[in-house]
Amino acid sequence: MNINKIGIIGAGAMGTGIAQVAATSGFKVMLNDLEEEHLQRSLKIMDKSLSKLVEKGKIEEEKDSILERIRVTTCLADLRESDFVVEAVFEDLDVKTKVLTAVDDVLAPEVIVASNTSSISITRLAALTKHPEKFMGMHFMNPVPLMTLVELIKGIATTQETFDVVKGLAEALGKVPVEANDYPGFIANRILIPMINEAVYALMEGVGTAEAIDQVMKLGMNHPMGPLALADLIGLDVCLDIMNVLYEGFKDSKYRPCPLLQKMVNAGYFGRKSGRGFYDYSKK
Ligand code: CAA
Repeated sequence: MNINKIGIIGAGAMGTGIAQVAATSGFKVMLNDLEEEHLQRSLKIMDKSLSKLVEKGKIEEEKDSILERIRVTTCLADLRESDFVVEAVFEDLDVKTKVLTAVDDVLAPEVIVASNTSSISITRLAALTKHPEKFMGMHFMNPVPLMTLVELIKGIATTQETFDVVKGLAEALGKVPVEANDYPGFIANRILIPMINEAVYALMEGVGTAEAIDQVMKLGMNHPMGPLALADLIGLDVCLDIMNVLYEGFKDSKYRPCPLLQKMVNAGYFGRKSGRGFYDYSKK
């Protein structure tokens, strides 16, 4: 299957990163979001990130010619000419349901749709579409331009042909695809998010300060950033949602979300994006 134009739905951190990587890899991109403001913010973030990567010699092409391959739109119907679509909207089943059913009416039947969901069942999302055999999970890591992994997840109906096309695309984007089965959290978040949750328990119980917990994991385990700083990067609301998906999916108390994580989300402390999480970002 020949893919030239990639449609991306959702101009949050993940959609923005995917758009940037796709354009850098030579694909034409149509980035869609409900809000024009989100699209403009996304273009600014890409501009800044590409400037850094070009400056460091990690990308050879001129920034402007990469950005020229990106179009933005608030109209979902503008995705109709896409050869492939990635959905990267807010991690909420109702929101994803609306978007996936609406995009189904716009696209040609042969177009493969992938979801960047971090933990919602691919089989469940696929069942919302008219062509579940052409639907699968394509889970990028944050920050997308810097992280090599893409988890690929088949739903129960996904064909091998669909999987092979998406695997080829992930490689064309310069990523390393790893196959995971469709169980709550797949591989990455099944392991990562309970670790973060445990770090929040350690903080809540006073085992160590946020700095101490992060230092231990950085210096003792060679993690590039500590679990609490990483939670701030991912978003505490996202971490909580994923813990709840694990808890409800496995019905196992070992996945219970830490009350402190819940409390911080209740307070609107979502991490970097809200200016406050386990650390204070308000001055940056
Ligand atoms: N584009 C371009 N450059 C970027 C960038 C971006 N999006 N993000 C960071 N950088 C740059 C920084 O500006 C910095 O540049 P300078 O050296 O010129 O200042 C450089 O990359 C290195 O960054 P830092 O000095 O801040 O820190 P670092 O060396 O630790 O690298 C990191 C940053 C790559 C994010 C690293 O800390 C890391 O790998 N952290 C872990 C990330 C991770 O685990 N991601 C997965 C999250 S889980 C997920 O995404 C799945 C899910 O569903 C929840």
